[in-house]
Amino acid sequence: MKIVILDKVGSTNDYVKKFIKGGEDVAVCARMQKKGRGTKGRSFVSERGGLYVSVLKFLPLNSGEHPYKIISDTAVAVVKTLKAFGINAAIKWPNDIFVGGKKICGVLTESVTEGGIVAYSVTGIGINVNNPIADEIADIAVSTKQILGRELDIDSVLFTLLYNLEQKQEAGLYARYSCVLGKTITVTRGDGSVFQAVAESITEDGRLRLDSGEVLSSAEIRLTP
Ligand code: BTN
Repeated sequence: MKIVILDKVGSTNDYVKKFIKGGEDVAVCARMQKKGRGTKGRSFVSERGGLYVSVLKFLPLNSGEHPYKIISDTAVAVVKTLKAFGINAAIKWPNDIFVGGKKICGVLTESVTEGGIVAYSVTGIGINVNNPIADEIADIAVSTKQILGRELDIDSVLFTLLYNLEQKQEAGLYARYSCVLGKTITVTRGDGSVFQAVAESITEDGRLRLDSGEVLSSAEIRLTP
C-alpha cells in the first residue's frame, strides 16, 4: 500500500480520492485537517496532534464484500490498535470508538458499490491522540494523551493502525468489542422521538436488533447510565 503523509489538508477523505484512477490502495495521513468531515454531514474538528487518515482500498469485483464488513472491520482494527497502546476501547454501534463513555475515534466510510458489491472504499479514521480536547466537548470526547497521561508517537499509532486494517478480522470480534450489545440504550429516531430498549445483536448487514423486535439501520443511540 502506498502511504502519503501530508502536513495540512482540507479532508484526507477528499484528498485520497485523487488516487482512484491509479487503481492502487493508498493511505493518506495528515497532521491536521482544515475541513475534516464527520458522518451525517457534520464537521470533524482536526487539530494538530490527532491522527487523521483515509484509506482507499480496491476490492476484487467478485469479493462480495458488503459495505458493513468494511465498517465493522475498521472499527475492530481501531480497537486493536488502541489496545496495543494500553487503551481499553470499545465499539459503539455502528462505528464510533469509545473509552469510558467518551468518544476517542470516529470513522467515515464512503464505499462505491457496483451491483450492491463494494468496488472500492474510502475509509477515514480520526483518532484523538495528542490533540487538545476543547472544553465544549470535554464531557463527550477523550484523547489517548488524557487517558495515558503522556503523548504517543503519532506514526507508531498510524503504522499499527495500517497493519491492523490489512488483517482479516475474526468473525465475532465486532460483537466482543461492542459496548452496546446487551445494554439498555436510548434511541433518538430521525423524527426526534426517543425510546429505550436493550441492544440484542447485530444483523448480517450491520443493523442493530433491539429486544423490542425493532431493527435500527440508522439512529442516534447512547448508553443509558
Ligand atoms: C464521525 O465521527 O462523525 C466520523 C469522523 C471521521 C473523521 C475522519 S478524520 C480522517 C478522515 N477525513 C475526514 O474528513 N474525515 C475522516
